[in-house]
Amino acid sequence: MSRSSSEGETAKVAAARQPLLRALAREQLVSPPIWLMRQAGRYLPEYRALRASAGGFLELCLTPELAAEATLQPVKRFGLDGAILFSDILMVPMALGQPLRFSESEGPLLEPLAGDEPAARLGIERFHERLAPVYEAILRVKSSLPDGCSLIGFAGAPWTVASYMIEGGTSRDFSAVKLFAFANAEAFARLLTLLVEATSAYLVRQVEAGAEALQLFDSWAGALGEAELDSWCIEPTRRIVAAVKAIHANVPIIGFPRGAGIGYKRFVERTGVDAISLDPSVPLAWAASELQSRAVLQGNMDPTVLVSGGRPMREAAERILESWSRGPFIFNLGHGVLPTTPPEHVAELVALVRAWR
Ligand code: CP3
Repeated sequence: MSRSSSEGETAKVAAARQPLLRALAREQLVSPPIWLMRQAGRYLPEYRALRASAGGFLELCLTPELAAEATLQPVKRFGLDGAILFSDILMVPMALGQPLRFSESEGPLLEPLAGDEPAARLGIERFHERLAPVYEAILRVKSSLPDGCSLIGFAGAPWTVASYMIEGGTSRDFSAVKLFAFANAEAFARLLTLLVEATSAYLVRQVEAGAEALQLFDSWAGALGEAELDSWCIEPTRRIVAAVKAIHANVPIIGFPRGAGIGYKRFVERTGVDAISLDPSVPLAWAASELQSRAVLQGNMDPTVLVSGGRPMREAAERILESWSRGPFIFNLGHGVLPTTPPEHVAELVALVRAWR
């Protein structure tokens, strides 16, 4: 009791000087806070140098001082309002015991789960021990975060993570995971439940290490039909939000069911998220009228327009600012920064958003 009320006080004091936390508390700011999904990464020369010194991407994620440095690189360079922990959504299957590697040409590769009971060979026994470097990275970032910048923790949502676990990597049509789920509904439900429990525990630990807001990435929600969006995306997300908030009632949670279309509305109504990250296909006026009264909007500039820069970028940013800055809003992209993005374009975008009133 006393712990949660003092936590509440600490959260309020922190929020008072942090634009991102203020926007997440639905406060209307003069200009919106800005951070970018995948703001750390290959488009930054200092990231490429750091990754080379680490030996590889997984080594970078699992070495706390290096992961902390990668987290802080874009914040130092651009003065963003949020620092997203440098890690990956596939840390959860790895910590559950599924071998993971990253290939330069094919991206992430997991040894695909096989058999009738895919969760059988996985377990939570060593979960937190394997994730200890992530918690340590959060502690390190927290101790050197610039004033006013908030630390965002994250995880993948169960559907997207399960798709990687069963497909073994990024998929074109998700046929392996869907065919498995349709043929083995109960085993698939058990896998989703394992992921709900593991992900909730992981996010709770991230908050305890110092994360001040959380984002759940459901990057492949757009591959689902209506019934599957409800049972594989919305319902597992609702359970994670409830489990995290049962322990840390004040931590704001951002949902990102990318590609959900009009399903974003059901997602917002049913999951209990505080904010909703929108992909570039979501019409601006529709989001303002249908979503913004229930959830803080985040997004949704096309990452390719940031590669382009110039007038198309300025016009795209202004359309978003015009449409959304009359309500609670966080400027972001609709998906991650692309590796070909010129860093100067990011600097120009940040200046443009800061100058908005
Ligand atoms: O946003 C950030 O700056 C924080 C770090 C972050 C990474 N991955 C680092 C990363 C976050 C939040 C993620 C989430 C993630 N990882 C998602 C959800 C968001 C999305 O993009 O839809 C997904 C689907 C993954 C899985 C994943 N990791 C893929 C498909 C790839 C290969 C594609 C690519 O860009 O190389 C990764 C690798 C990865 N994750 C890199 C980074 C910086 C590139 C690694 C490198 O080459 O250095």
